[in-house]
Amino acid sequence: MPNIYYNDYLHLDKILGSQTPESEKHGVKAHDEMLFIIIHQTYELWFKQVVYELDSVLEILNKESVNDDSGDLGTVIRRLDRVVEIWKLLTQQISVLETMTSQDFLEFRNFLTPASGFQSVQFKIIEAKLGLEMHNRYGGEYYKRQNPNEGGFDSKDYQTIGEVEKSPTLKTLLIQWLERMPFLVQNYWTEDNTPEKFWENYKQLFLNSLNEKEDKESRRAEFEAIFSHQGIGSFSPQALRAILFIMLYRDFPRFHLPYQLLIRLQDIDETIAVFRYKHLMMVSRMIGMRVGTGGINKQGKNQEGYLEGALRQHRVFREISELSTFLIERRNLPPVPVSLIKELGFTS
Ligand code: HEM
Repeated sequence: MPNIYYNDYLHLDKILGSQTPESEKHGVKAHDEMLFIIIHQTYELWFKQVVYELDSVLEILNKESVNDDSGDLGTVIRRLDRVVEIWKLLTQQISVLETMTSQDFLEFRNFLTPASGFQSVQFKIIEAKLGLEMHNRYGGEYYKRQNPNEGGFDSKDYQTIGEVEKSPTLKTLLIQWLERMPFLVQNYWTEDNTPEKFWENYKQLFLNSLNEKEDKESRRAEFEAIFSHQGIGSFSPQALRAILFIMLYRDFPRFHLPYQLLIRLQDIDETIAVFRYKHLMMVSRMIGMRVGTGGINKQGKNQEGYLEGALRQHRVFREISELSTFLIERRNLPPVPVSLIKELGFTS
């Protein structure tokens, strides 16, 4: 049997020897800098775990076909569950940091310039692995400062983020998986109830379900554009029809896991947004209207700052939530052919 010692296994010498407050180097006693360092280090450790989970999920979804019977989808969902729970924990941690007052922070804040959370490469990698692309990032000019002395990334880190963006992401793999969904092809349908007739019928039911406050003609145009012509964002009409169909018929056993996946992706968007919001509130309590150590205009009185912009704009799976616009009451769902019901049920 190997003789493993707890401290060696966890490399505690390295981890516990890695807190070096800048204030000490300047001969200043700033008690709270230790908390500040440890909080950031624990974030980075959890980010590492999130990247690890996302990589495994991407590997599964990158297979030519994800076999629903093999447990693949269940594994993906459980790992995304873990990501969501980690993110909730990361949001809670902010409250620990808030036991530091803004004046306590001032004791060491200026020693940190121009380093900032903006330079957390792992955070940007997580965003990129989920599917956030550079052209959709708020304040793109901040990413171009490839000089760490100005609060940007060094060119190696910048390149790493770019490479992750170009690799398959959760969003691109999700879209491909949705586009492969077989249930909306003619094989399962009848001459009287083809997929085209089903959607035409569905559109009418949807428009009839709207109350008088909704602009029916705009909704009709949106429905047609989204599901027939242009899609939304990088989601094709085919992928969007698959999402809507899964949402509508989620009670069929074959759709239980796909539906859970769609929910989990929205959970990820939501929990990260809650973290961003709590971070933003903490930042405004901590430094008021001052510029961040990373030199970014974090917030103005009357204008949107970087952190607010990122909160609003960095939502990777927004399109899934937007499809709730087009749901109708379950009791009014149009019938689907018996052959399809068989395929989607337990008895197939
Ligand atoms: C006293 C505590 C903190 C303050 C005052 C603060 C302030 C800021 C500010 C002003 C920014 C915008 C960039 C800049 O100009 O610096 C920023 C970005 C960021 N901070 Fe913090 N922060 C604090 C703690 C944390 C902690 C504990 C984390 C955890 C990792 C964190 C993660 C981030 C991240 C990831 C960004 C980039 C967000 C994005 O690009 O969307 N911050 N922070």
